[in-house]
Amino acid sequence: MKTGNFKFFAVTISIAVQLADTVHAQDQVDNITASYKEDGKYFTADDVPTFNVQDDGTIDWPSYSGFRRYHSECHVCHGPEGEGSSYAPALKKSAVTMDYYDFIEVVASGRENISASVTSVMPSLGDNPNVMCYIDDIYVYLKARGMDKIPRGRPRKKEKKHTVIREDEEDCLDSGT
Ligand code: HEC
Repeated sequence: MKTGNFKFFAVTISIAVQLADTVHAQDQVDNITASYKEDGKYFTADDVPTFNVQDDGTIDWPSYSGFRRYHSECHVCHGPEGEGSSYAPALKKSAVTMDYYDFIEVVASGRENISASVTSVMPSLGDNPNVMCYIDDIYVYLKARGMDKIPRGRPRKKEKKHTVIREDEEDCLDSGT
């Protein structure tokens, strides 16, 4: 390499090191940031469903759907808006800290914690289309709550429901009955 290029080379290395640091940090923690959008849904770089809130407060359709589904299927035990209850954990925290696939697995298969002092049962909901057809919606809503990106109460502004979401929903509900 000619010496004239050396400075450029050094700068390039320093940028590469910075980038590697950033990517490494994200590998460990970034289960949150939307990296791309597909048919009205948002995903992280690792293809995990996530929420998206625009500057004017408009939220993605799945998070809005999740708000409704959560409050029909989960809140009796887990408390309103994912806040938790004396009986079951605060899912707005679980959605942030738990691995996405573990989260889905607990909902589908259930979980029991039974000992002399405690009986704590998460029912298995894998056969319930009103849960499983909307589980990603519920998950992204809770993750947005856990990150404080959606306030308590009914979300006001939302994106339109994408036609693909509508079609997938009909297929899923049909196959579940
Ligand atoms: C009948 C009450 C009940 C209902 C309804 C219920 N859960 Fe649970 N869930 C529990 C209990 C109790 C636990 C704690 C189980 C344990 O101690 O292992 C739990 C645990 C969980 C966990 C693990 C949380 C963690 O941090 O480890 C997830 C995830 C979860 N529930 C999701 C859901 C979702 C999503 C819904 C609605 C679709 C739902 N649950 C409906 C009672 C319920």
